[in-house]
Amino acid sequence: MDTINAYIEQHRERFLHELFELIRIPSVSALSENKEVMHTAAHYIKNNLLSSGVTFAKVMDTSGWPVIYAEKIVNPDGPTILVYGHYDVQPPEPLDEWKSPPFEPEIREGKIFARGADDDKGQLFMQIKAFEYMVAENRLPCNVKFLIEGEEEISSPSLKQFCIDNKDMLSADIILVSDTTILSLSTPALAVGLRGIAYFELTIKGPDRDLHSGLYGGAVDNPANVLSDLIAGMKDKNGHISIPGFYDDVQNLREDERKLLNALPLNEEDFAGKIAVQKLFGEKQYTTIERLGIRPSLDVNGLWSGYTGQGAKTILPSKATAKISMRLVPDQTPDKIANIFQTYLKNVMPPSVTYKLDVLHGGNPYVLSWNSKEMNAAIAAIEKTFNKKPLPVRGGGSIPVIADFEEILGIKAVLMGFGLETDAIHSPNENFPLENFYKGIETLPWFYYFYSKA
Ligand code: BES
Ligand code: MN
Ligand code: MN
Repeated sequence: MDTINAYIEQHRERFLHELFELIRIPSVSALSENKEVMHTAAHYIKNNLLSSGVTFAKVMDTSGWPVIYAEKIVNPDGPTILVYGHYDVQPPEPLDEWKSPPFEPEIREGKIFARGADDDKGQLFMQIKAFEYMVAENRLPCNVKFLIEGEEEISSPSLKQFCIDNKDMLSADIILVSDTTILSLSTPALAVGLRGIAYFELTIKGPDRDLHSGLYGGAVDNPANVLSDLIAGMKDKNGHISIPGFYDDVQNLREDERKLLNALPLNEEDFAGKIAVQKLFGEKQYTTIERLGIRPSLDVNGLWSGYTGQGAKTILPSKATAKISMRLVPDQTPDKIANIFQTYLKNVMPPSVTYKLDVLHGGNPYVLSWNSKEMNAAIAAIEKTFNKKPLPVRGGGSIPVIADFEEILGIKAVLMGFGLETDAIHSPNENFPLENFYKGIETLPWFYYFYSKA
């Protein structure tokens, strides 16, 4: 694989040009009107995979957005790596906070600025171009399959069934994913876990119309007040979630495991400073690293009710809504947490209102052993190109389908991402440093090499 740098040197402009074409397709999975856009993105990837060296590729329909499947089989008896990635992106809003338009990629200060530059178009593209190199220079040591989906950012509602329906097609020895972060180019890391997620929309309903707050205020319960009260009751001043039973299935780490995790060089002041926060806040008795990796969390993601326009309007709103997400850790499951949450709401809801709870997302947490054949190959690959051993990290984010892969297909996933905390994924001005992009392309072939050799 030692000709990879020369190959990158020779093709670096084309790699960028191709990635930019993909980024320009605004494949926001959350918008139901995006059918044509999602198909355009899927076909772009299919064609790029074909020109990168797969012998077979197709766009497959699902009950949601299409999936791309592709493969190159070099030895039917040899090992197979299944590359997973997603071509969908989060909505770009708020638009006025972007320094350049979200779907017009621009290079500034050595970084690509655009929605999807990192998550996950940039990272997915590292995978495709690393593969292209191995095919072009006759160095592909094993079979490769690609499964690229368009629903990750909406928690992959169709992919579970897709896996059940296509189990044989997807058979592989290991899944390889670039959709996580390292700490920096001088502090490489590998994810040994991802948090799961349970995401709800809670609506409190009071009177059947907005009421005059003078004629009714004080005599009718206010859904906005009730919702605020409920939210306040979900977490205490120590950052501990107060919903009964919430922590029942949370695994406690051994002291030595906690110590290893806390060996990560995370500077709290730096961490806070980069997001312009005065002081960090989280569950007492746990470090920031632990709060992000091995402890669950509960957050309001959106909250609205009543009059929010200019000036004052004297009403008592008829309803109030909150979007609430919980990040889960082993052995919590979104189904059980949904039950616990339902029971809690039933018990604390005042009789003066009614309510509706919708489950929007669910995903199981995921863990991977630091001492495994696949992890050793990933560690060796990173060591080879970074000249440094990677540190084990627990990713705070979620990739819901990774746990499903294990459950349905029986295949573990290695999370070899090259993004940075500062890439602003999901935020305005998302970016991906060119150096990280090329470092990823340089490193991934070595995973193939060490994995196939082991
Ligand atoms: N790539 C991220 C997840 C991630 C980022 C994990 C960095 C670890 C480190 C993924 O695209 C993502 O954003 N997932 C969503 C899932 C949700 C929409 C169900 C998330 O975590 O919010
Ligand atoms: Mn992602
Ligand atoms: Mn994402």
